[in-house]
Amino acid sequence: MSKRITVLAGDGIGPEVMDEAIKVLDAVSAKFNLSYELDHQLVGGAAYDATGTPLPEATVKSCEQSAGILFGSVGGPKWETLPPDDQPERGALLPLRKHFGLFANLRPGVCLPALTHASPVKQELIADGFDVLCVRELTGGIYFGQPKKRGTNEEGTEFAFDTMIYTKPEIERILRIAFTAAMGRDKRVCSVDKANVLTTSVLWRETAIEIAKEFPEVELSHLYVDNAAMQLIRRPGEFDVLVTENLFGDILSDEMAMISGSLGMLPSASLGKQNDDGLYFGMYEPSGGSAPDIAGMGVANPIAQILSLAMLLRYTFGENDAAKAIDDAVASVIADGKRTGDIFTGATGEAKVGTAEMGAAIIAAL
Ligand code: NAD
Ligand code: IPM
Ligand code: MN
Repeated sequence: MSKRITVLAGDGIGPEVMDEAIKVLDAVSAKFNLSYELDHQLVGGAAYDATGTPLPEATVKSCEQSAGILFGSVGGPKWETLPPDDQPERGALLPLRKHFGLFANLRPGVCLPALTHASPVKQELIADGFDVLCVRELTGGIYFGQPKKRGTNEEGTEFAFDTMIYTKPEIERILRIAFTAAMGRDKRVCSVDKANVLTTSVLWRETAIEIAKEFPEVELSHLYVDNAAMQLIRRPGEFDVLVTENLFGDILSDEMAMISGSLGMLPSASLGKQNDDGLYFGMYEPSGGSAPDIAGMGVANPIAQILSLAMLLRYTFGENDAAKAIDDAVASVIADGKRTGDIFTGATGEAKVGTAEMGAAIIAAL
């Protein structure tokens, strides 16, 4: 299998946190005697500025020839008024997900024990832990449904619309991913929809009930998305696996990230087809964005990027020990009191550090 990883740092804090992830990869490779070939390519606003397109052909080619993609983040105010196809998000990130069929987005929201007081929810609600896997459908729904259009009608009124569409096979495959993940966890799946309003959600809920029959050991529950947003804050400790469509998953996963302390803590894996060895081609990226408000200041939290690297090692290369070593190093640095600004609360024993210092501490812990 190819040992090549395409590295797409992107915009804003992307390159800053990516630097730390690459240093961690070097360190973990040395420790576990692994070797990877990294191919750095342009994506997003940085690619647009350099080449006139947010997703150059060379970038796609490189990804096609790699085992997986380590992605930073794209976008920012500089590019948000470009025509949609030239924008970093719609012209690069979404096309990459679609092109590689990365329909399964895993976002593991975990509040580390030493970070419970950095979470905005009451301490006692997560005293027994917050550990939720959000399984977000990533290549369907309203993000990609056609038609998608802006126009002016005969009366001269401007309008815009998006189409929310799911086929049954698209729903079945993401549910199977969620149920399979639940089998390795607490065997509970909460399917989130809006079946009281949306036709796509009615199909989603019926399909969830059908797929659940393939996994008799797993308990299935359903929540409407508005209630789910509320219940996540009311009883965060009671969720195990949450499965939902593209847009709902986008929103709920940011909420989960904050329950775990910060958006800068939540990694993600976007997976497509599994090969015969059970490994995936995947794209691995922080759940948060380019954070223009802190970009270039050296203060961004690199942990989401570093944990995304761990997910790459686990899901694309099957290097479970190396992945676990990274997860453990992150946990120990947090337990030691090192905090970037987003998770710093000023509590006794906490030391505020920048992006590079956090990366160095994680490498030292490795
Ligand atoms: P954002 O996730 O970039 O930032 C939201 C808030 O979280 C900001 O206050 C930011 O400083 C903070 N934050 C995020 N990551 C952090 C980190 N690692 N460390 C510390 N703080 C962190 O969301 P936004 O401001 O709505 O979007 C900014 C740009 O990023 C937009 O162009 C958006 O489209 C893009 N975006 C890209 C991705 C991606 O590339 N995967 C994901 C989300 C948003
Ligand atoms: C995410 C981001 C993207 C999404 C944007 C940047 C297109 O918010 O990965 O969560 O909505 O999927
Ligand atoms: Mn998002």
